[in-house]
Amino acid sequence: MKHSNVLTVAWTGTICTDPAMTYISIRPERYSYNLIKENMEFVINLTTKDLVRATDWCGVKSGAEVDKFKEMGLTKEKAEHVKCPLIKESPVCIECKVTEIKELGSHHMFMAEVLSIDADEKYFDENGKFCLEKCDLITYSHGQYYTLGENLGKFGFSVKK
Ligand SMILES: Cc1cc2nc3c(=O)[nH]c(=O)nc-3n(C[C@H](O)[C@H](O)[C@H](O)COP(=O)(O)O)c2cc1C
Repeated sequence: MKHSNVLTVAWTGTICTDPAMTYISIRPERYSYNLIKENMEFVINLTTKDLVRATDWCGVKSGAEVDKFKEMGLTKEKAEHVKCPLIKESPVCIECKVTEIKELGSHHMFMAEVLSIDADEKYFDENGKFCLEKCDLITYSHGQYYTLGENLGKFGFSVKK
């Protein structure tokens, strides 16, 4: 890969369980847009409290002008199925292959198949369970970054007797 880059994306989510599929929606004017379109692959690196500054910075600076990995001290790690690197500091990295680009309007939606998920070993407990709650993930809402806050219940709790 001639050049790798990082951009912050809020418009993302799961769109299918089997096959495992996700999406990112990107404005065509972003530097990353053509990189992804040419290579038809990307990695989603979940972000954390420790990475909040890098998250914001990578969302306001362009890879056309700066090397965001270098400037933010992010470590490139070789991916298994795609040519672009993972971010070592991220607890969960999702390797994706683009299957379709939907030109929706301001944003184009890159629908993608999940090829693999790389999870940091330090978050597995002694029973081999991945403890996502220990990763200190952050979220973005209405222009602000937040930690995830309290647990409000388990799937199906509303009907459990
Ligand atoms: C919190 C946050 C969320 C963002 N979400 C998106 C998004 O979903 N889609 C998008 O096209 N740009 C989004 N951006 C803007 C890009 O990350 C930003 O324009 C970035 O500088 C593009 O980098 P590039 O020019 O290196 O591709 C977001 C920025 C921030 C700070």
